[in-house]
Amino acid sequence: MESVESPWFQVRAATAEDIPTLLDLWESVAAEGRWIGTEVPIAREARASRWKTTYFDSDAGCMFVAATTKGIVASAGVQNDRGLVDLGMLVERRHRREGIGSQLLQACIDWAERARAHKMILQVWPHNEAAIRLYEKFGFEREGYRRAHYRRKTGELWDVVEMGLVLGDVARENG
Ligand SMILES: CC(C)(COP(=O)(O)OP(=O)(O)OC[C@H]1O[C@@H](n2cnc3c(N)ncnc32)[C@H](O)[C@@H]1OP(=O)(O)O)[C@@H](O)C(=O)NCCC(=O)NCCS
Repeated sequence: MESVESPWFQVRAATAEDIPTLLDLWESVAAEGRWIGTEVPIAREARASRWKTTYFDSDAGCMFVAATTKGIVASAGVQNDRGLVDLGMLVERRHRREGIGSQLLQACIDWAERARAHKMILQVWPHNEAAIRLYEKFGFEREGYRRAHYRRKTGELWDVVEMGLVLGDVARENG
């Protein structure tokens, strides 16, 4: 899938030129302090260089974005390690619950299936009901619960839920 047309936004693979906008987007969601692992301030240069290696210079990863006429409002990154595809995504606050996350997630699943990966995995905070519901809607299951797993900058330790989606064709072939 190179791009998906929706009435008012387009899902496409990001390019290195999108990096500054993507960093701003990540920073704004990180600043909410509740949804993603990344916390502010973000190390912009280090992150840009990591993204470049992971998503733009390698076939083993891809960053998808959703863009409106006003610019990028959401992103989702996938990274394939021997058929295990790790996923991370976010949507700008004012554009949530408009179907963008669903389109991005579908793009990621399609990408993983095309790569003939056997499984997708992710981690989500237990209080992130919106994300958990989205993932469950697409067939992800809760596979584990890690207590006091990540230390936040406040010093608090947060639990995390592990979720996974075994991909259709491969699961059928092996099943
Ligand atoms: C989680 C997130 C990506 C969802 O994206 P979105 O564009 O808002 O999702 P969609 O509009 O496509 O919603 C799809 C489904 O997700 C669930 N969902 C989304 N937002 C929800 C909410 N606030 N409450 C309950 N369910 C919600 C629903 O099942 C929804 O389907 P429905 O509208 O038919 O009920 C978005 O809320 C977000 O970016 N949050 C902050 C960052 C984040 O949490 N990233 C994930 C970290 S693991």
